[in-house]
Amino acid sequence: MRKKINLTVSLEVFQREEWATDEIELVEQAKIAVENAHAPYSNFMVGAALLLENGKVFSANNQENVSFPVGICAERAVLSYAMANYPDSRPVKLVIIAKRREDKVWATVTPCGLCRQTINEYEIKFGHAIEILMLNPQGELLKASGIDQLLPFRFNDLNG
Ligand code: THU
Repeated sequence: MRKKINLTVSLEVFQREEWATDEIELVEQAKIAVENAHAPYSNFMVGAALLLENGKVFSANNQENVSFPVGICAERAVLSYAMANYPDSRPVKLVIIAKRREDKVWATVTPCGLCRQTINEYEIKFGHAIEILMLNPQGELLKASGIDQLLPFRFNDLNG
C-alpha cells in the first residue's frame, strides 16, 4: 500500500435546552408519528419528521409487511411523501426517533443503509446537505451536518 485515504466523521450532541425551535417541533411531530408505526413484526417503532425549506413539516413512521423486505423505514416514507408532493422544496432537517414497543426510553437509532442512500439522493438533487438529527436514550439530539457524516465514501456522481 502506497497511499491511504482517511475520512473523519463526527456527530454533534445537543442537550434539550440547546435545541432550535424548529427542532423542538420536529421532535414533537416524530413522537406523534412513532406511536402510529406499523411494526407488528419487529416491535421497533420509528418516527421521522422532516422540515422543508418552504417551512412545511411532514412526519411518517415505519410500515412493516408480513413479507419482511416489503416494509419501509420511517425516513424513506417521509422523504418519499414530501418529495412527491413538494419536489421543488429542499429538505432542511430530518429528525429520527425510535422506541421498542414495550420500552419507556427512546432507542438509539441511526438511519439504515438504504435510508442513507435515499438522503444522499436528495442532497444531490438540491446540491445541499440535509441535517440529520437522532434522539438518543439520554434525550439528546445527535446531529449529523449532512449525509457525508453517516455515509462516508458515498456514491453520488455517475461521472465521478
Ligand atoms: N427502521 C426504520 O424505520 N428506520 C431506521 O432508521 C432503522 C430501521 C425500521 C425498519 C423496521 O420496520 C424496524 O425499524 C426494525 O428494523
